[in-house]
Amino acid sequence: MKHTLIQRLAALGMSLTLALGLTGCNTASLPDDLELGNTLVVYFSATGNTENAARAIAEQLDADLFEITPADPYTSADLNWNDPSSRVSTEHDARVAGETVTVELTQTTPDNWSSYDTVFIGYPIWWFEAAWPVESFVQANNFTGKTVIPFCTSASSGIGNSGELLAQAAGTGTWLDGQRFSSGVSESDIRSWLAALEG
Ligand SMILES: Cc1cc2nc3c(=O)[nH]c(=O)nc-3n(C[C@H](O)[C@H](O)[C@H](O)COP(=O)(O)O)c2cc1C
Repeated sequence: MKHTLIQRLAALGMSLTLALGLTGCNTASLPDDLELGNTLVVYFSATGNTENAARAIAEQLDADLFEITPADPYTSADLNWNDPSSRVSTEHDARVAGETVTVELTQTTPDNWSSYDTVFIGYPIWWFEAAWPVESFVQANNFTGKTVIPFCTSASSGIGNSGELLAQAAGTGTWLDGQRFSSGVSESDIRSWLAALEG
């Protein structure tokens, strides 16, 4: 069942990536002289994959970590995309219909938020987008003066324009190009990415 979905997602993802590649975006490429400064790694993770990536990034950079936690956590029944009446399916339907889905969070602003120069933001891809609790987080916070680096985990889809959409939702901050990792990304892949990022 899952295999079939993933195959379908892979095919759809490919056409979507092609389509998105042709559209404009408002994020910037990584500057050669990127100085991270005081760094926070923010993440939402429903099943632990993005959390693993976030922890590896924070450990490698000696950065602080903040988990975006919905007040009403997503259960495995909530996450069942094969069930049209599950929470994710109905929330997704609402978003497709143009409605705003706001997810209440246990804490919207991380402690000492103003002290951070760089914020990594990690999320799973849900139907080719950033999982929407992350949108609720970025809408609630002011990123002025911060460099923001999105990253995601997914079964097969690329990061697409999810970073650009979060940048638009935030409305502030200097958002750089994001990075997609596979669900089971290794620490060494993350280390290589960070090494390239820091120059
Ligand atoms: C509701 C839902 C939708 C998903 N949609 C996609 C998708 O469009 N493309 C994809 O490659 N993976 C998709 N996945 C798989 C997740 O992106 C992947 O398992 C991710 O690593 C989960 O991260 P997490 O463990 O941090 O929640 C989806 C998963 C869920 C629960």
